[in-house]
Amino acid sequence: MLEARQLVAGYGRLTALRGIDITVGAGEAVFVVGPNGAGKSTLLKTISGLMAPSRGQITFNGKNLRGKTPEQICRSGLALIPEGRHIFKTLSVAENLRIGSLIRKDKAAAQSDLEMVLETFPILRERYKGIAGYLSGGEQQQLAIARAILQRPALLMIDEPSLGLAPLVVDQVYDSLKRLNQSGLTLLIVEQSTGRIMNLASRIYVLRNGNVVLQGTPADLAEDGKLDTAYFGFSPDAA
Ligand SMILES: Nc1ncnc2c1ncn2[C@@H]1O[C@H](COP(=O)(O)OP(=O)(O)OP(=O)(O)O)[C@@H](O)[C@H]1O
Ligand SMILES: [Mg+2]
Repeated sequence: MLEARQLVAGYGRLTALRGIDITVGAGEAVFVVGPNGAGKSTLLKTISGLMAPSRGQITFNGKNLRGKTPEQICRSGLALIPEGRHIFKTLSVAENLRIGSLIRKDKAAAQSDLEMVLETFPILRERYKGIAGYLSGGEQQQLAIARAILQRPALLMIDEPSLGLAPLVVDQVYDSLKRLNQSGLTLLIVEQSTGRIMNLASRIYVLRNGNVVLQGTPADLAEDGKLDTAYFGFSPDAA
């Protein structure tokens, strides 16, 4: 479905991605994990067209994405929830959700999807007319996910869905991501920590200093503390 090959990108003289290969198959939940500054957000920004790579290819269902505008990429079925969520805080929950379905022409299906996300995230129905900025952090994350789902993306990318959330709320967000994935939504998710992801991930990439240092299924990576070694660059047991 999504394929990035030898992706190089950076900011001026700083190279943040040093030749990344990553694939996401239809129906998968693929995770990219790594410490601060690894290049995770840069990777999602580059895939979604917010940043231009200096080298490499990105294809989505066989079509080239490189050089396309973020809007073209969004219309081709990729949605990004950026770091920090970016909901419209002064608008109501309802208005935020309406923005999600703006690009859709199938208004009847959009209406039934709205019903579906309100089922999935009951708090949004409860606060439907309320101002989005008054929602708690976890509720805002649910709103951001709901809004992105209303675009009916083929692939949903999320930059650190658990950032700033209490552990219980992270569980709730992950439960809903799991249900969405089981209902067929393909996910590409960036996280700093690996704690919550094992149960949802089909495959995991570990990113450090702009390189993929390890990849595999959760079962592959759980073996012999491989994941910790790749993540930290040394084995915590040996330290
Ligand atoms: N707007 C920017 N201008 C200059 N350098 C940047 C910019 N954004 C990121 N960088 C640098 O690019 C590198 C990769 O950053 P990136 O934001 O992709 O990391 P990350 O893996 O998302 O980290 P975090 O877990 O802290 O969000 C870092 O060295 C960072 O300092
Ligand atoms: Mg980041």
